Amino acid sequence: MTTELNPEDIEFQLLVEGIYCRYGYDFRNYAPASLKRRIRRFLHVEGLPTISALQDRILHDQDCIKRLLLSLTVNTTAMFRDPGFYIAFREQVVPILRTYPFIRIWHAGCSTGQEVYSMAILLQEAGIYHRCRIYGTDANEQVLQTARTGIYPYKQMQEYTRLYLKAGGQRSFSEYYTANHGSAIFHPSLREHIVFGQHNLVTDRSFNEFNVIICRNVLIYFNQTLQNQVHGLFYNSLCNFGILGLGKQETIRFTAYEGCYEALVSAEKLYRRCN
Ligand SMILES: C[S@@+](CC[C@H](N)C(=O)[O-])C[C@H]1O[C@@H](n2cnc3c(N)ncnc32)[C@H](O)[C@@H]1O
Repeated sequence: MTTELNPEDIEFQLLVEGIYCRYGYDFRNYAPASLKRRIRRFLHVEGLPTISALQDRILHDQDCIKRLLLSLTVNTTAMFRDPGFYIAFREQVVPILRTYPFIRIWHAGCSTGQEVYSMAILLQEAGIYHRCRIYGTDANEQVLQTARTGIYPYKQMQEYTRLYLKAGGQRSFSEYYTANHGSAIFHPSLREHIVFGQHNLVTDRSFNEFNVIICRNVLIYFNQTLQNQVHGLFYNSLCNFGILGLGKQETIRFTAYEGCYEALVSAEKLYRRCN
């Protein structure tokens, strides 16, 4: 008897199960097309002939799984990425936050932290940062290590300056960092109210109640079942009238939680929990 699955599909399923059983990272409900593409690229880089050969290596080699995790998750990020989002946040969300005595914000899937530092800058310029606590989380501990340092390649600063200004930045961007041997070191005062920590959206629970949850360019890598599960986590982690911010290509529409939010700025994927 043969099934409709081809050998590579079977190997793919077994690999994903193997990663979950051995290391607890659950890729079973990630969108398969992009995951398969990344696995094929990883095989090429590692010089392995088949996914089965990779299975053997990851089960016995802890360094190999670290490399694989880095290449399975897309960690691309930037400061003030999609600047319109920050303009909308400044204009539509900050006035709401001003009325709160204390503000808890969660950046889920924050990668190397640029998005979190951008928010800290925006909140400082709005004069409410001292009342905020920002949690930056990601499933991948390696990217968080960079986030905690607040140190990025100096060559990225030109592009970040351009995005900062497009996002409505009010000062000179260079006020926020010190240049040192090819690196830009963001000022420690920006990190004063930020906590970075590992959190896996698939396997971990809620850890607080938030006024704002930002999760941009993460859910696109999940299938519909997993997107619904993670929206459940966000819904249960947001206080009533809390704000949810998604990425450009993401939407609350067509999910099980569509009716629980009203659009605050639909073009910028900013929503407000309404029940
Ligand atoms: C493309 S980056 C987005 C970074 C940032 N939010 C932005 O929009 O610039 C996606 C991030 O999601 C993280 N990620 C993927 N699966 C995750 C999961 N199950 N739980 C938490 N983070 C996850 C990846 O490690 C990666 O850093």
